[in-house]
Amino acid sequence: MKKILFVCLGNICRSPLAHGIAENIVQKKGLKYKVDSAGTSNWHVGEAPCTHSVTIAQRHHIDISQQHSRTLKKDDIESFDYVVAMDKQNKTDMEHFGFKNVYLLGNFGGFNGKDVPDPYFFTGEDVLNGFEKVYTMVETCVEELLQKVENGSL
Ligand code: 4NP
Repeated sequence: MKKILFVCLGNICRSPLAHGIAENIVQKKGLKYKVDSAGTSNWHVGEAPCTHSVTIAQRHHIDISQQHSRTLKKDDIESFDYVVAMDKQNKTDMEHFGFKNVYLLGNFGGFNGKDVPDPYFFTGEDVLNGFEKVYTMVETCVEELLQKVENGSL
């Protein structure tokens, strides 16, 4: 069984979306992949994803409300076939932790290595709009990533 881990800083905004979207695709296509997510920090361990991520995912008929934030553990280095960072800082932090071959999500879906913007720091009236844009980017990238895993080109 292929195992894929999505990683961001807090594991409450971005990687829970990637986790939920990937699980949804895996379920729909009947694939036998294990999907998980984690944070490089331990700041939000045990917490559910942030309310805006839950809301945006729900709009796309994906329930991420039952996820809980966890931090990276050394076992993850051996346990996962594919480890995917949401931004370059996450990737650097993961490499310092001991991960090798860390993929950047923004290297898929035609985003040319763009960081997934961190919506935790979004403010103002357009916050949900910002989360929607993040969702769209994550969805596009995860779709291409999973296609590449499936067809063996990754
Ligand atoms: P995430 O967003 O990495 O997408 O889960 C963040 C969550 C929390 C913090 C930063 C980013 N924080 O500073 O607590």
